[in-house]
Amino acid sequence: MQRIAMLGSGFIGRFYADSLQGYRNRDKIVSIYSRREESVKKFATDYNVAHGTTNMEEAIAHPDVDIVCISLPNNLHEEAVMLCCKHKKAVMTTKPLGRNAQEARRMLEAVEQAGIFNGYLEDLVYTPKFLKAYESVKNGALGRILWAKSRETHPGPHSDWFWDIEQAGGGCILDLGCHCVEITRSYIGKDIKPIEVMCWADTQVKPIDAEDHSIALIKYENGAIAQFEVSWTFRGGLDLRDEVMGTEGTIWSNNFLRTGLEMFTTGKGADYVSEKAESNTGWLFPVGDELNELGYNHMFMDMFNSLEQGKQPKESFYDGYVVNVVLDACYKSAKSKQWEPVQLDIWRGQEGVSKDSHLIEYDEDHYLVKEEMTHYGAKKLILKNKQTGKIFEKEEK
Ligand SMILES: NC(=O)c1ccc[n+]([C@@H]2O[C@H](COP(=O)([O-])OP(=O)(O)OC[C@H]3O[C@@H](n4cnc5c(N)ncnc54)[C@H](O)[C@@H]3O)[C@@H](O)[C@H]2O)c1
Repeated sequence: MQRIAMLGSGFIGRFYADSLQGYRNRDKIVSIYSRREESVKKFATDYNVAHGTTNMEEAIAHPDVDIVCISLPNNLHEEAVMLCCKHKKAVMTTKPLGRNAQEARRMLEAVEQAGIFNGYLEDLVYTPKFLKAYESVKNGALGRILWAKSRETHPGPHSDWFWDIEQAGGGCILDLGCHCVEITRSYIGKDIKPIEVMCWADTQVKPIDAEDHSIALIKYENGAIAQFEVSWTFRGGLDLRDEVMGTEGTIWSNNFLRTGLEMFTTGKGADYVSEKAESNTGWLFPVGDELNELGYNHMFMDMFNSLEQGKQPKESFYDGYVVNVVLDACYKSAKSKQWEPVQLDIWRGQEGVSKDSHLIEYDEDHYLVKEEMTHYGAKKLILKNKQTGKIFEKEEK
């Protein structure tokens, strides 16, 4: 059993609390910190939390607390993490870890120096669809991974602080790109170094200083390429889609707008449909169990099992740091309009991986370019002579 201090009682704090306590779990929130007294009281009543306070340090230091869950605006993550280090409390923080790589690095170094458990709450690499797809990728069902793409777009966040570049640290690149980087990086291999990025970003719609739309490419040392598409200007709900392509196969997944559940209503009685849904009438795409389909349950299971077994969870502060470094390079590239290097001062994966070979052996003298069964019953082979480089086709009967 884990006894949790929840910091923040807003949007994600409540999703987390629903997941932590929603399935007759043995884990329990025992302490809640929120900025305002009335929010503390409301959260404590809703989730039956014994201790509530408007003092962050008091919530963390409470003697009943085993682990702290940070669900605060981005500019408060570092302060909360440092207090967890001071009181030697295990900590898990929501995404993004920092507003930039400098903050993330300070947090990573602090938790490691303090010797405390640290988890990075990147729920989208714990969704049932991701876990299943990832298993296939790891088993080699897709062959060598060439390209991984992740898209997260919606009509914009739900609280004021997200729109203020100082508190949030950035716009949709930081807010949504953090998910996409970790999803694509997981498919390509977390031990493969991201080396450079090319990013376009613009403020197309919203009256803000940060970007509200961005597309980026992230090159990996083994030659694989990742791509993200993020936006706070998309109309139509929450679009969460991933694609991964390898030499032997492809996976497409859609986490939110096409889950297999489709409904029509004239609007009577239907208020909440699913996160960021823009309409509650007409044809709708509800999500059966958001807590599970967004990965919160599997994520907390990994966090607590890892804590109890004294090992690192699948997602730790180190992963949060790598994500922040990649996103910093994206911001740089969006400004310079050039490929920008990913400046990973701390790297714990493979070094000096060379680009994988693109040559497929056919026989001693030839490489295989392509084989195809035609509609007229002939199997065509396209081959390349290793010596002469000549490309030619032949039919197999
Ligand atoms: N899928 C996800 O992983 C996911 C989804 C949404 C948000 N988040 C992250 O969760 C964090 C919180 O986002 P949210 O959507 O819950 O925001 P929110 O605005 O709904 O809630 C923030 C909470 O922090 C408190 N707060 C706000 N400003 C504060 C201040 N200055 N001092 C003290 N407390 C303050 C609020 O009262 C509230 O309890 C952010 O880092 C965000 O990126 C993650």
